[in-house]
Amino acid sequence: MKGAMLVGGFGTRLRPLTVTTPKPMLPLVNTPFLEIELLHLKEYGVDDVVLSTGYLPAVFDEYFGDGSRMGIKLTHVTEDKPLGTCGAIKNVAGQLGDGPVIVCNGDILTDLDIGELVDYHQRKGAVVTITLTPVEDPTAYGLVPLDEDGRISEFLEKPSWDQVVTNLINAGTYVLDPAVLDQVPGGENYSFERQLFPDLLKQGEPLYGFPSDCYWLDLGTPRKYISAHHDILGGKIKVPLGGKEIREKVFVGRDVEIGRDAGLNGPLLVGDRVSIGAGAEIGGLTCIGNGVRVGPGARVEGSVILDDAVIGERCVVEQSVVGRGTVLSPGVHVAEYSVLGDNIEAGEENEFRRGIRVWPSTVIEAGKIKF
Ligand code: GDD
Ligand code: MG
Repeated sequence: MKGAMLVGGFGTRLRPLTVTTPKPMLPLVNTPFLEIELLHLKEYGVDDVVLSTGYLPAVFDEYFGDGSRMGIKLTHVTEDKPLGTCGAIKNVAGQLGDGPVIVCNGDILTDLDIGELVDYHQRKGAVVTITLTPVEDPTAYGLVPLDEDGRISEFLEKPSWDQVVTNLINAGTYVLDPAVLDQVPGGENYSFERQLFPDLLKQGEPLYGFPSDCYWLDLGTPRKYISAHHDILGGKIKVPLGGKEIREKVFVGRDVEIGRDAGLNGPLLVGDRVSIGAGAEIGGLTCIGNGVRVGPGARVEGSVILDDAVIGERCVVEQSVVGRGTVLSPGVHVAEYSVLGDNIEAGEENEFRRGIRVWPSTVIEAGKIKF
């Protein structure tokens, strides 16, 4: 079956991580997130996929190429200017054939049963079927009320609270009959959520919702990026972890040096070529990237440390993200969902808290930032 993946967005809410890496290519448990998504599609026979890229397209091409390494046929199509969710799919319609296709937002972590979704789509005779998931705050998503038969009655993108009549939102995975794209103007910015879906409803076309209680997370913000790691490490969704399980829920890669009296308290994942200094503590729900160095007496907990970062002696990192190649000098403290971009140099005893975000390649003198 054919699929199309929307990966052209700027990922602005995930800055500074997305300044250097497009959102779908950010590592999730040390694997580019999109690789996890593509393998999930492949599991259900969706192995011919068009990537609709826009922002930093070379990063996708360099890593995946034609997809053969993963046993998938991948075609990359890059927009000159953002065409919006629907315009982007219209732009690749020539590659999609006539049969129903799977269309995915590229920022969703899910274990959705795509086989069941496709069966439902066919059983209902739908032209579009939208996977739905319940959330507590639907105002950040597309609200999708249904009738008793599962047919969509309205589509309200980013509704205000007084419009909220259900907790079911558009979960960002569709089955689409490509013929619905005929009415979409080519080369223009066009939205599924604000234009095509409401238009099709007005025309009386059969659009169905497929409510699912599977695992679902939109990776849009730093908090969610950290939560996705916690959920995988905590076993809420099954994603293969690299490395060897040396103790229960402690996964460790190749060429890892662990210093005297260092503590590894799972669930956690440590990548390849990592060194952990004497007396350091790696706490639960932590993911340490490849080539990372953790200094003596440092403590890391509930955090994501990206490749080649250096966590100096006595540093503390809690529920935060440290970017690729970033160097924390001794005694630095990072906490409360703070995000340090790539290649930052943070001098001794700086404190980053309350969700502070630091731009890539910033150099910060010792003791400059305190809370
Ligand atoms: N190629 C391309 N071109 N891709 C795009 C463009 C574009 O112009 N704009 C957005 N995308 C991609 C993004 O990279 C992302 O993977 C996906 O489309 C969705 O865009 P987001 O910016 O993440 O949208 P959202 O999260 O605010 O809302 C969407 O997803 C929600 C579920 O997470 C909507 O589909 C909502 O209705 C839905 O509830
Ligand atoms: Mg999103």
